Amino acid sequence: MGQLLVFLFAVIAFARFGIAFDPPTIPLGWTTAYPCAVDDASRILAKDSGAAAYTDNTPASCIERCDAANYTYAGVEYSGECHCGTGLVSIPQAAPTTDCNMTCTGNSSLSCGGAWRIQIYKSLALAPGEWAPQGCFLDTPLMPAFSAPVHTALASNLSLVHQCVDYCTHIGMPFSGVENASDCQCSLGLAAGAIALPDGVCNCAAVETLMVYKYQE
Ligand SMILES: *[C@@H]1O[C@H](CO)[C@@H](O)[C@H](O)[C@H]1NC(C)=O
Ligand SMILES: *[C@@H]1O[C@H](CO)[C@@H](O)[C@H](O)[C@H]1NC(C)=O
Ligand SMILES: *[C@@H]1O[C@H](CO)[C@@H](O)[C@H](O)[C@H]1NC(C)=O
Ligand SMILES: *[C@@H]1O[C@H](CO)[C@@H](O)[C@H](O)[C@H]1NC(C)=O
Ligand SMILES: *[C@@H]1O[C@H](CO)[C@@H](O)[C@H](O)[C@H]1NC(C)=O
Repeated sequence: MGQLLVFLFAVIAFARFGIAFDPPTIPLGWTTAYPCAVDDASRILAKDSGAAAYTDNTPASCIERCDAANYTYAGVEYSGECHCGTGLVSIPQAAPTTDCNMTCTGNSSLSCGGAWRIQIYKSLALAPGEWAPQGCFLDTPLMPAFSAPVHTALASNLSLVHQCVDYCTHIGMPFSGVENASDCQCSLGLAAGAIALPDGVCNCAAVETLMVYKYQE
């Protein structure tokens, strides 16, 4: 009986206070910069958007909130706070992830920082740059043009290339390609053995031939 009570107490205590730090699923184009770091009243994020508390806070919802407002840093703290910033004021002091043990207001199975403890995420967006045409590449299921492409469907092939390079810039991938009137692909590079085709075979609408652009810093 005594052991059972101890066990039940442990379960309750764990459920209430002991949220395990779990690397959360974070939206495309962002990454964890500091799993758990020290924050203070002067704020570690540059141009910190403030300590507003949200009832739907999670790492993902905070990142989406900051991303929509064009910030490149996001941090969750003290359960409901979502901080957005343009950079870091200084190199954060890392804290053990067990310090980031407060549950998120938007999902009690995720951790959202602690008292003066912040989980910091960073956008991988590329700085605005030029995109240079790389020509046309075969793109079939067996012979893909891109290595591990991320696909997104865009509304029409009206300014498809422009929209697609913008999207790839935003998610931090330096290769961009379009085909089939609406298929925009982003990648970190060409697939091994990618097959170049003569210029003019591609247009934005043709299938299985990818019109490729590469980011230039
Ligand atoms: C974010 O940047 C995009 C692209 O530059 C722009 O269209 C949009 O209006 C900006 N949003 C905000 C909230 O500033
Ligand atoms: C939770 O984190 C705080 C610091 O944010 C720390 O003092 C405390 O020991 C942690 N609690 C547990 C159960 O790890
Ligand atoms: C809360 O987060 C957990 C862990 O990532 C996930 O499995 C679960 O689906 C989330 N719950 C809600 C309501 O989003
Ligand atoms: C899409 O591209 C095809 C081939 O280049 C063209 O015929 C068509 O008019 C384009 N559609 C739009 C909406 O731009
Ligand atoms: C082209 O796009 C359409 C949808 O817009 C899709 O149904 C079709 O499978 C695509 N074709 C190829 C070869 O990817």
